[in-house]
Amino acid sequence: MADINSAGMPLAGNPYPITRSELIPAQRYYDETFYRAEVEHLWPHVWQMACRLETIPNVGDWVEYTNVGKSVLVVRTKDGVKAYQNHCRHRGVPIAGGSGNAHGNCAKSGFICPFHGWRWNMDGESTFVYGKQLFSDDLLDQGELALKPVRCETWGGCAFINHDMNAPSLKDSMGPVLDRLDAHGMSNVRSEWWFATELPANWKIAMEAFMEGYHVMMTHPQLQRSVPGLYNARYGNETGGIGLPIDPDQTVEDNIRAQIDNLKLLGSGMAGMVHAKEIEIAEQLGPDNPDLQLPPTVAEAVPVWFGLVQDAIARKLKERGENVPDLNAVCVSDPVNAVEYLFPHYFLLPFFTSYASYRIRPLGPEKCLFEIWSLTHFPEGQEPEPPMEPTVLPYDSQDFPMIPRQDYSNIPIQQKGLHSEGFEFMRLAKDVEGLISNYQRLIDAYIAGEPGAKLAAANRKLGGNFDGPILDLEI
Ligand code: FES
Ligand SMILES: [Fe+2]
Repeated sequence: MADINSAGMPLAGNPYPITRSELIPAQRYYDETFYRAEVEHLWPHVWQMACRLETIPNVGDWVEYTNVGKSVLVVRTKDGVKAYQNHCRHRGVPIAGGSGNAHGNCAKSGFICPFHGWRWNMDGESTFVYGKQLFSDDLLDQGELALKPVRCETWGGCAFINHDMNAPSLKDSMGPVLDRLDAHGMSNVRSEWWFATELPANWKIAMEAFMEGYHVMMTHPQLQRSVPGLYNARYGNETGGIGLPIDPDQTVEDNIRAQIDNLKLLGSGMAGMVHAKEIEIAEQLGPDNPDLQLPPTVAEAVPVWFGLVQDAIARKLKERGENVPDLNAVCVSDPVNAVEYLFPHYFLLPFFTSYASYRIRPLGPEKCLFEIWSLTHFPEGQEPEPPMEPTVLPYDSQDFPMIPRQDYSNIPIQQKGLHSEGFEFMRLAKDVEGLISNYQRLIDAYIAGEPGAKLAAANRKLGGNFDGPILDLEI
């Protein structure tokens, strides 16, 4: 591992590596040197979700993406989506945007530097240098004046950027989870709304609230109450879970009512993970429907009912002109988890045909920006204007859906607790909190400067690891 950067300055090493996979040192969430190690060794080499593509629908449309002090312009060109470092080749001024969530169109004007007026087209080529004769010829070589390209790939309705020209491709890095999500229609959904909030916590603390289901009983009792069997069976022991016990006398009808209540919670309370149009269809298959024929036991009836609901949702939304997948088929061919994590900072939460989606960016060792999108299908030609900016709310705003608000309430207090005297490390449940250890050890491998192919191979193991075990990442 090189220990100096290109400027000859010493690089930040890893002051708090993970030495036992079940224990995560507390300092990784607030120590300045560890944060600097992430800024120097992690973020410049990873695929970052930079923007949703519906925010740049036309040739020339661009958005600025910023993270850990680096600004990138993402532009739709005639030849696909491209990205550039956002600085003027003259004296370094950002040539567009300059603040978070800036956007515009450069098809006619190109990019014009606000300082002395140098210009570039959307392909990054220099098109105008004011007072050319004032400069030495060799300073104005086209290769030197062109905007510095940044790797850019599109997938799942998003542009992803990577500052590392030698990093393995997005697909190589993420692996088959991308294909599984594609089979669920990920590339056809668009954003319906977009919220953001600043959390007084390290970016990893914010993410780790969404990497396991073990917190549901305590943090989201409403979810546990509506389907107690699900959570108690997975996390309880012989004495049962800590929430409502399974009622052995519950009738099939009552259970179906509880399933519908749960879908409503995931709709209204969980940031659009289940869309109102899907709940409406599920309700038509409620226990009062005289045509509903289900097996007599709850254990048999619930999967049959879900199959009927999925079939009805796919059929009815297709009739409306939405390009949705055949849900029952893709659940077998391409199963996905309730939460799918794309290292290092993007989440997709698929349910029927709609998704919640999260992106988390550090704003310093103990502050981060958390964004939520609701994604769904629309009939072709009836797509609404997408949100171009997130609605920024305080993290405790009552306008956030209930479930993320409950998660947000834990995050700032956990950040405080990490500083408590004598708290040395988190202790993880090796079979259900494994993702937390796995992605954190991948961060250590980036900090150690492991080769790209090895990092990508480890990254691919994270696909589908939500609520899963600690893995041997071979790094
Ligand atoms: S700094 Fe951009 S034109 Fe001078
Ligand atoms: Fe949660």
